[in-house]
Amino acid sequence: MQNTRIIGTGHYLPERILTNQEMESFVDTTDDWIRQRTGIHQRHIAAKDEAVSDMSAVAARRAIENAGIAPEEIDYIICATLTPDMVMPSAACFLQKHLGIRRVAAVDINAACSGFIYALEMADALIHSGRYRTILVVGAEKMSNLLEWNKRDTAVLFGDGAGAVVVRAGETVDDQGAVLPGILSVFSTADGAACDLLYVPYGGSRYPITPENAQEIEPGIIMNGRELYKRAVVAFGEAIAEALKQAEVDPEEITIFIPHQANVRIIASAAGRLGMREDLIYLNLDKVGNTSAASIPIALDQAVQDGSLKTGDMLLLAAFGAGLTWSSAVIRW
Ligand code: ACO
Repeated sequence: MQNTRIIGTGHYLPERILTNQEMESFVDTTDDWIRQRTGIHQRHIAAKDEAVSDMSAVAARRAIENAGIAPEEIDYIICATLTPDMVMPSAACFLQKHLGIRRVAAVDINAACSGFIYALEMADALIHSGRYRTILVVGAEKMSNLLEWNKRDTAVLFGDGAGAVVVRAGETVDDQGAVLPGILSVFSTADGAACDLLYVPYGGSRYPITPENAQEIEPGIIMNGRELYKRAVVAFGEAIAEALKQAEVDPEEITIFIPHQANVRIIASAAGRLGMREDLIYLNLDKVGNTSAASIPIALDQAVQDGSLKTGDMLLLAAFGAGLTWSSAVIRW
């Protein structure tokens, strides 16, 4: 039987680090408030001339190298982002150009912070269709472009970066009948009725960039933080339960949980409700903040690099984001 396996991971974080203390000088906030309410200590900020496809290219090259394949072996590129280089063409097409690959499908998807797992589900389905064999899945964001530094409720939360994985079709068991690594389940869903909890109105087709709209429409990210917090805890729980059910895996079998890195309190609260041991949760948000669609693939590669994620692990991924969207996956590593 066919199986989808992650054969390489990579990530990129911009050089510039912006600490909470540094933010105190130009945002009405304190290091103490940010740490206590979110768990974030610092975030990376992309350079002015650094776009999402530039960051994606570094992450993708690392994933391709770690997979031990040639870029030409990739036959599909999916980039999850809400901050593409331009309105068109897609960041995935710019990425294809950076990688020097030609004549393969390249497309962006936007499911906000849940985007990477949404993209992973699409890659898994494309592989199961039998039409594609090796797919590059990227999550990348330049969230700093959307931030208004005088809006302290959102300015302190987000950061920039990119993560990538290469997935490939494989067998589920080897010649001896031993179970091989692979994606056991992927789940994605959304509740568009809650789209007013987190949105960026200015610059899209409803409120295009015009002098009139610049006067009338609030720039940057608009967020109902408290409501989102409550919904996120429930969504995480639902996503995790669904992925476990589809994979026919018991919660006790999970050996590592990599959640979307939005807020340490949200993650702890969701994990606590499920009775999950805190030491199984992989966290990097203290160093990178919320990097939206890039969050999970960055953490995934860091977990591989620092030895937290090992062969034989039962990995759980879960995310929530604007939409609202939420998604999850169980992967035998
Ligand atoms: N620094 C200092 N004070 C602040 C800041 C700040 N950066 N931001 C808000 N405050 C103040 C508020 O004004 C408020 O003051 P008041 O009591 O005088 O009115 C007080 O702090 C408490 O505000 P709350 O909003 O109630 O704080 P809360 O504990 O809910 O924490 C937070 C806010 C961190 C935003 C939390 O609600 C949260 O994490 N929500 C989820 C947000 C999230 O995850 N968003 C990303 C979704 S993923 C995606 O798709 C992009």
